[in-house]
Amino acid sequence: MYSLAFLFLLCARFVSSESVPNRFIIEVDSESAINLPSKRDSASLHERVYEHIRARDIGFSLDREFNEESLFVGAALTLEDPRDVATLRDSPGVKSIRAVQMISRPRFVDVYTVSGEIGLQNTSDQESTHVMTGVDKLHAQGITGKGIKIGIIDTGVDYRHPALGGGFGPGYKIVGGYDFVGDAYEGGNPFYGPSGIPMPDSDPLDTCSGHGTHVAGILAADPSNEYNISGVAYSATISAYRVFGCRGNTPDDIVIEALLRAFRDGQDIITLSLGDSGGWAESVTSAVANRLAHQGKIITIAAGNSGATGGFYASSPSSGIDTIAVASVDNTVLILRSLRVQGVQHDPIPYYSSDPLPVPEPLPIYATSNDTNATADACEPLPDTTPDLSKYVVIVRRGTCLFVTKLKNIADKGGKFMLIYNNKPDFGSIDVGKYNASFIRAADGEYLVSQFVASVPIKLDFPQEGDLVEIPSETGGLVSSFSSYGPNYDMYLKPAIAAPGAQILSTLPNNTYGGASGTSMATPFMAGAAALFLSTKQLSGDVPITVRTVLQTTAQPILSNNTGSDLLQTAAQQGAGLVNVFNAIHYETLLSPGEFLLNDSAHFNGQHKLTVQNTGNSEKTYTIRHKAAATALMARTGTIFTSLGPVNLTRAAADVSFSTSSFTLAPGTSQSVDVTFTLPSDDESTLPVYSGFIHVATDSEDLHVTYQGLGASLANVRTLDDTDYFFGHQVPLLLDASNNVQTDATNYTFNNVTGDYPVLISRLSFGTPLFRVDLVDPDFHPEGNNGTLPIVQRLDWAPRSSEDNDDGNAFNYSPLNSLVFHDGTDIPKGTYRFLVRSLRVNGDAANLNHYDSWLSPIVGIFP
Ligand SMILES: *[C@@H]1O[C@H](CO)[C@@H](O)[C@H](O)[C@H]1NC(C)=O
Ligand SMILES: *[C@@H]1O[C@H](CO)[C@@H](O)[C@H](O)[C@H]1NC(C)=O
Ligand SMILES: *[C@@H]1O[C@H](CO)[C@@H](O)[C@H](O)[C@H]1NC(C)=O
Ligand SMILES: *[C@@H]1O[C@H](CO)[C@@H](O)[C@H](O)[C@H]1NC(C)=O
Ligand SMILES: *[C@@H]1O[C@H](CO)[C@@H](O)[C@H](O)[C@H]1NC(C)=O
Ligand SMILES: *[C@@H]1O[C@H](CO)[C@@H](O)[C@H](O)[C@H]1NC(C)=O
Ligand SMILES: *[C@@H]1O[C@H](CO)[C@@H](O)[C@H](O)[C@H]1NC(C)=O
Ligand SMILES: *[C@@H]1O[C@H](CO)[C@@H](O)[C@H](O)[C@H]1NC(C)=O
Ligand SMILES: *[C@@H]1O[C@H](CO)[C@@H](O)[C@H](O)[C@H]1NC(C)=O
Ligand SMILES: *[C@@H]1O[C@H](CO)[C@@H](O)[C@H](O)[C@H]1NC(C)=O
Ligand SMILES: *[C@@H]1O[C@H](CO)[C@@H](O)[C@H](O)[C@H]1NC(C)=O
Repeated sequence: MYSLAFLFLLCARFVSSESVPNRFIIEVDSESAINLPSKRDSASLHERVYEHIRARDIGFSLDREFNEESLFVGAALTLEDPRDVATLRDSPGVKSIRAVQMISRPRFVDVYTVSGEIGLQNTSDQESTHVMTGVDKLHAQGITGKGIKIGIIDTGVDYRHPALGGGFGPGYKIVGGYDFVGDAYEGGNPFYGPSGIPMPDSDPLDTCSGHGTHVAGILAADPSNEYNISGVAYSATISAYRVFGCRGNTPDDIVIEALLRAFRDGQDIITLSLGDSGGWAESVTSAVANRLAHQGKIITIAAGNSGATGGFYASSPSSGIDTIAVASVDNTVLILRSLRVQGVQHDPIPYYSSDPLPVPEPLPIYATSNDTNATADACEPLPDTTPDLSKYVVIVRRGTCLFVTKLKNIADKGGKFMLIYNNKPDFGSIDVGKYNASFIRAADGEYLVSQFVASVPIKLDFPQEGDLVEIPSETGGLVSSFSSYGPNYDMYLKPAIAAPGAQILSTLPNNTYGGASGTSMATPFMAGAAALFLSTKQLSGDVPITVRTVLQTTAQPILSNNTGSDLLQTAAQQGAGLVNVFNAIHYETLLSPGEFLLNDSAHFNGQHKLTVQNTGNSEKTYTIRHKAAATALMARTGTIFTSLGPVNLTRAAADVSFSTSSFTLAPGTSQSVDVTFTLPSDDESTLPVYSGFIHVATDSEDLHVTYQGLGASLANVRTLDDTDYFFGHQVPLLLDASNNVQTDATNYTFNNVTGDYPVLISRLSFGTPLFRVDLVDPDFHPEGNNGTLPIVQRLDWAPRSSEDNDDGNAFNYSPLNSLVFHDGTDIPKGTYRFLVRSLRVNGDAANLNHYDSWLSPIVGIFP
């Protein structure tokens, strides 16, 4: 799929973007650290630990300190010599040590600014997302999140925006926060100057990015603005924690510091529209987010925008167990550009672009076929009789060949501007390559062709500003195709629940407004939903789980498509469904738990109990029923790989029985029901994730528990890619000093200056708890060898590889240039092989049989 030559072009970027050399986060064990002897009696716990680190001759500089007793006590350090890691790990008071990881800058899937009026074509207003989720009715009841404190960890907020309060500090909407980085910070190497040196201050203003400003508007924009939008919880009190500069990524120690500060500032809810491929609950940020949840904080985190990457690709930190991972649902309306038809009376015609087509003046039209039933319009070069098309907008029908083939044939006749009209009723975004082209609906295209055939002298005018129209969306209410699929590799339900996140109108910097898409947009919506709920209830006990459970059990399960089929989308992409905040607040029934986790077939957990409580003032009669969602076939047929999105769905379903299926509850009473699942009998090799909903309903309320399980054993899922699928060359492989694939025994000097060392290229076909590279004898035999092997590199809790070269996770590029083992001891000169291994999910790290492995050709280490 990608050539090795292409691979080399990418390498430099990969090395720089992923890990941060020499930087580590240590967690301190406060109980033992406070008793460490020190030269000074008054030394703080941290000072005592540093003193002992220095006593071991480890040179380091301190980047930041974490000191939140109930959450995380530790520090981020830069080591002068990375070989000191092992000594540091054994230093007294140090509980654990992890390399600092970069967290990618959050990106919109799509963003555009709007200006002028928005024409409404068969839609009513801009509050569609509130109508979809019952928020409009709550606002009408005066429920707007008053008294709830919410922290946004993002790119900052442009609080000067009139809809965001117009100012900063006590008395304003954005009451506080912090800037941990400054404009110039890019998350780079401090050696190269300001782009690597955070410049914190107390003002989290966002003027350059817009991401955090859009997020803030979805959460809390004031109503009565020119676009009639409002935030879900616009009376809530907001703090902005800025962790990204104007460009680039940020290291996870900064995000952890922001989480701790938001905690100290007493936020009730903390929302993070950020993350990277992960899928394990164990990353440091996931773990800290999870501890915040245990301290009573509601944590909403974006589930990720990797839907195209397919199954088992959950994002971290949303993979933290008790956080709320938020999926995206398409808005019921689309806001698009429109063109005007001159010469006849006609409504503006919407075209599927967020930026205007750059047509400088009104132009007449030319149709490549007069037949609006043409099946292969412009798939062949256009006839010689075709005029010079440079002064026309060319109209062409979809079908048979690629869009860009049609556009090229038109461009070959001079065409510069094209409109492709659909051949079916739906609508969506299409790939037009480099051409000035866009997509219009079938009926609009047929109309234009009819005008052309009738020789009506019309012209099309493409205003370059304004002229936005709002039209109904064909995919409105469905899970957004970009929304990532879970579940976690350890079978937790990720995402947990969904909110509107595609084509969302909100605030942007410099007093502007714009539309944007992404689970980044769904996440503040969910934070706002949680705030509305909190503002109406007096909760005690485990508040974060209670809130997640109520939001999940009262959500609306989502169909897999809008074509009339009743097949529900897999819970691995929708979670518990689309949030309905009105029902969450007003239902008089509590159902718990929110999720039944059935695990894989080897650890099948088929016995569960649900509890129904009538909190109303009158007797209620409940019925219980099972509605299966689609089973998602997560394996790509005949391969070791997981399927790309959209993942194939089937109607296979688990069987479910209940200890009772109907009962009546007096006010204030509750009842528990045993639920027994039987695994569906799918083909294990398809990696079927089955899921669905156990509904508990009265004649006016309908709640559900979401369940999910895997009809295969995770221990059978291969984790190490051993195919030539991605590069056309089998992996893993070693590249030698000249970037050729090493096939024969080769000696290296391990000279960093000449680059004379091997580089390991590997891919993971599934997530692994432990990826390790050991150095073994040239005649090593894996059979029966459970001995302790010396590790040269290790990676804990790694996600599977993607096939998307843009997400930085398509393969692992590991220079094997160290002359020391991972434990800091020197590697003796000699000949070896590298043993590359990845542990299967649920595997025993001490058992060689539980790994997928590869033995490299012979490598001579002769510095
Ligand atoms: C609005 O809906 C009506 C009835 O469904 C339809 O005839 C008309 O074409 C629609 N208008 C637009 C602009 O989509
Ligand atoms: C906002 O305005 C400032 C100053 O004119 C400009 O530098 C910045 O790029 C603008 N921000 C955006 C997101 O357009
Ligand atoms: C906002 O709502 C008002 C009243 O419903 C309406 O008159 C106005 O056109 C709306 N503005 C926009 C930009 O939709
Ligand atoms: C196109 O097909 C439709 C339905 O099949 C038919 O009613 C119509 O007459 C056809 N139009 C032309 C121009 O052939
Ligand atoms: C797109 O339109 C712009 C502005 O009219 C023009 O400069 C450019 O050449 C066009 N691009 C193509 C591929 O035709
Ligand atoms: C298509 O219609 C136009 C305008 O009526 C006409 O000039 C042209 O000859 C027609 N093309 C064909 C192939 O019939
Ligand atoms: C919608 O779902 C049905 C049932 O699974 C399926 O047959 C159909 O192909 C789907 N349609 C689309 C457009 O995905
Ligand atoms: C999905 O189903 C289609 C049609 O049955 C099949 O051609 C395709 O190979 C399947 N995709 C995967 C990833 O298995
Ligand atoms: C590597 O170096 C060793 C020690 O000098 C030598 O014995 C061996 O032949 C060399 N191997 C290769 C492949 O050059
Ligand atoms: C060691 O390896 C053998 C097979 O090679 C395996 O059966 C055994 O369980 C392993 N022992 C341990 C302690 O993991
Ligand atoms: C080469 O550089 C890397 C990264 O800076 C370092 O980890 C490694 O120890 C160096 N190797 C040698 C042989 O000095």
